[in-house]
Amino acid sequence: MNVRTIRPVKGLKGEVTIPGDKSISHRSIMLGSIALGTTEITHFLEGADCLSTIDCFRRMGVEIERKPSCILVHGKGLRGLTAPASTLNVGNSGTTTRLISGILSGQNFATTLSGDASLNSRPMKRIMTPLNSMGAHITSLNDNDCAPLRIEPGELHGIHYQSPVASAQVKSAVLLAGLYAEGPTSVTEPALSRNHTELMLQGFGACVATDLHTDGTATAHVEPCKELFGQQICVPGDISSAAYFIAAALLVPGSELLVRNVGTNFTRAGFLKVCKDMGADIETVSQTFEGGEGRADLLVRHSRLKGTVIEGDTIPTLIDEIPMIAVMAAFAEGQTVIKDAAELKVKETNRIDTVTAGLKTMGADITPTDDGMIIEGTGHLGGASIQSYLDHRIAMAFSIAGLAADGETQIIDSQCVDVSYPEFYATLNLIGI
Ligand code: S3P
Repeated sequence: MNVRTIRPVKGLKGEVTIPGDKSISHRSIMLGSIALGTTEITHFLEGADCLSTIDCFRRMGVEIERKPSCILVHGKGLRGLTAPASTLNVGNSGTTTRLISGILSGQNFATTLSGDASLNSRPMKRIMTPLNSMGAHITSLNDNDCAPLRIEPGELHGIHYQSPVASAQVKSAVLLAGLYAEGPTSVTEPALSRNHTELMLQGFGACVATDLHTDGTATAHVEPCKELFGQQICVPGDISSAAYFIAAALLVPGSELLVRNVGTNFTRAGFLKVCKDMGADIETVSQTFEGGEGRADLLVRHSRLKGTVIEGDTIPTLIDEIPMIAVMAAFAEGQTVIKDAAELKVKETNRIDTVTAGLKTMGADITPTDDGMIIEGTGHLGGASIQSYLDHRIAMAFSIAGLAADGETQIIDSQCVDVSYPEFYATLNLIGI
């Protein structure tokens, strides 16, 4: 067990450069592996989840070089992967599992996927249903709709899938399988989820389009593809990682922090909108675009926050930031209501439960609901011993809570931050804790 002690601090100053986006890093390895030619990836996130993706593709014959300044993926083409010698280990990574299942459904060899205890308890029926209806042969080895998954070769045909959830992982699994299918494939989701797969597939030469409907639903289309072509990818900073430092500067009195290289793709930027709704002082110092992805440097100053309501189409744009937002809400003035967020229950932990447990331990007034939580902001939290439940986002959100709390906070099993942000604590130390 690894315990990290966090003490309250005075003012956070200086600047932080945000590491690469986890979603884009995963996709750059996956698409690079099934493209022809070499894909060069800079600012790749070397977190445990993305390393799981690298390991899976290496074990299917892809040469992936980790250089000091970049990752080189020597792609095998759409049909060039080879059968792995044993089970592919997906670790803690839901993104690896669900997206790779789309690719593996189109291969002419069988594979088995398995991960850690958390991963093997997360729902996989959400991808098995659409992929099997395309002609894939995916079974849950323990017959519980969870991994380990066995994927046998199948002939794929395009479908239109009406997804019951706004999930980029489900959408991406179906679109990736669509590359291998006969006929076009499309996915309609109840609200637009992150669109990195669509943007990147386009960059790699696939024929992809998205329709945004007036009722808030969205449909992504993909055509079957002969080949993809290797690309140069500069991964923007992960807004989900930036959220911790933005929140830290907002919550700790006297702070003024420059947060550099924050990905601002509109399908991910809900956290920034909610911060503004809560009264945050965040100034965009510069903004650039590359490969369809925006990135910005943000100057964040300590602010008095007020409660807000977060619901509906906004939820998919900040789903991973909700633990951090809940902590901010506890420090704010007034009530915050988070609803339409039942997806929180199927993340690395049930985050309605794990956020509630942590905030209650720190003395917050929080009521869990079936699809979110209600928090009565009291302006302060008390330091406490907090279980991370091995969930990286719980560990990081409560570490930030500890910076602004009264007294000392301990984070139990804090090493789980390695999943998405291995330098998290080193970076906190740099800016003055
Ligand atoms: C991800 C999508 C989200 C998010 C996860 C990464 C992705 O999951 O929670 O951390 O890279 O596609 P869902 O799309 O299932 O909501």
